[in-house]
Amino acid sequence: MKILDEIHVMGKCSLSGEIFIQGSKNAALPMMAASLMHRGLSVLKGCPKISDVFCMEEILRSLGAVTWWEDHDLYLDCTDADKTEIPEVYTGRMRSSVILLGAVLARNKRCRIGYPGGCIIGKRPIDLHLMALRTLGADICETVSGLDAECIRFRGGEIFFEKSSVGATQQAMLAAVLAQGETKLYNCAKEPEVFWLGRYLKSMGAVIEGEETGEIYIRGVRELGPGKYTIPPDRIVAGTYLCAAAAAKSEIVLRNVPEGELKAFLEVYQKIGGQYEANGGTLKVNGKRAVRPAELVETETYPGFPTDLQAPLMAVLTGISGKSVIRERIFDQRFGSAFQMNKMGADIVVNGDEAVIRGGRPLTGITVQAGDLRGGAALIIAALMAEGETCITQAGFISRGYEHICRDLQALGCEIWQSAGEDLRIYEKK
Ligand code: UD1
Repeated sequence: MKILDEIHVMGKCSLSGEIFIQGSKNAALPMMAASLMHRGLSVLKGCPKISDVFCMEEILRSLGAVTWWEDHDLYLDCTDADKTEIPEVYTGRMRSSVILLGAVLARNKRCRIGYPGGCIIGKRPIDLHLMALRTLGADICETVSGLDAECIRFRGGEIFFEKSSVGATQQAMLAAVLAQGETKLYNCAKEPEVFWLGRYLKSMGAVIEGEETGEIYIRGVRELGPGKYTIPPDRIVAGTYLCAAAAAKSEIVLRNVPEGELKAFLEVYQKIGGQYEANGGTLKVNGKRAVRPAELVETETYPGFPTDLQAPLMAVLTGISGKSVIRERIFDQRFGSAFQMNKMGADIVVNGDEAVIRGGRPLTGITVQAGDLRGGAALIIAALMAEGETCITQAGFISRGYEHICRDLQALGCEIWQSAGEDLRIYEKK
């Protein structure tokens, strides 16, 4: 398995056929962190083989876990994961590594962790994470090189999040499940990945209520049992392929789609003229009539329009004649791919949190650079509409979240190929 280096796409292609949607990155990562809290073997079935998951696996191994893959099932034996230091070389690669702070503290009482890195999509403070852990009793020192934290045992408490944060909510949940006493969390994120983490922790023996409501109640238990869970499908990957169908004005079939988690996105999809038919987890998608601009699309916390699908939608809108407006309300610098699309011939004017897209201008295949995961995927979508060949450099960002974007689009008939860089090590069962 290799990290992508460059992706090449021949534009003006039409797509047809069927693809299966991978397991969710954002559900898998916190579940991997949660597995650390059982001193034994856990298994995550249907886990996506993407570089963020491999990075989290490496971190767990560096803490002493033994891990291996059997097809798409990831086995995590955390019997001896007693180390407490997570160096910056890992945490700098991936923001969600910060979520390990609560899990390592709950299990091993101490944790030294480098500051989190990740995609460049604006300021991404961790104040809410720290506030939650401190409220539950952690002593955290912020040093130049990272965080130095200690906590003999978390104790329950009440936490009000000033801002809804997926990661901070999950952090608090991980700390509270093994805490002494009861914890109440208010103004929590309601994203499905919070719900899935709650389900997983409950399957391990945690006592949690309200994990989908925004107010979560947790009664701490002494220990957690083994985890065994199937990772739910990735709503963002599904949405990305819906965008590909709209960009290429094509009909495709997507299987294993969490349609219920995509309501806000599907509403916008229909407004611009896209059509779909849902049957169980299968979505028949028709993007042929996606020809109407979008008056105003604003990203919101769940169940609103997801910020992770903002850039892929923007790419689609560059191909639709007329004026569309997108307002990004979650992250403060998430229009990076707009500048790359402009190099291809698009007309996108960014002003603060608003992007005005005057769509319908012809796009030309050139070399563009991915600057973040979803922005990189958006460039592939723009490339589908461009004249000639587009080369997307720094495609490693895309490997962080899409397991087989080239193979999937090839299966749909697109002429797309990749050059691969660094090897990702896959650990097999000994
Ligand atoms: C998660 C997702 C990411 C998605 C985002 C929003 C994972 C691994 N990543 O990221 O794909 O785009 O949710 O749906 O699940 N904030 C603070 N202080 C904090 C934490 C967050 O001010 O301590 C702010 C952020 O800067 C941002 C907002 O809160 O403006 C929401 O961020 P958050 O929900 O925490 O996103 P992540 O959990 O990092």
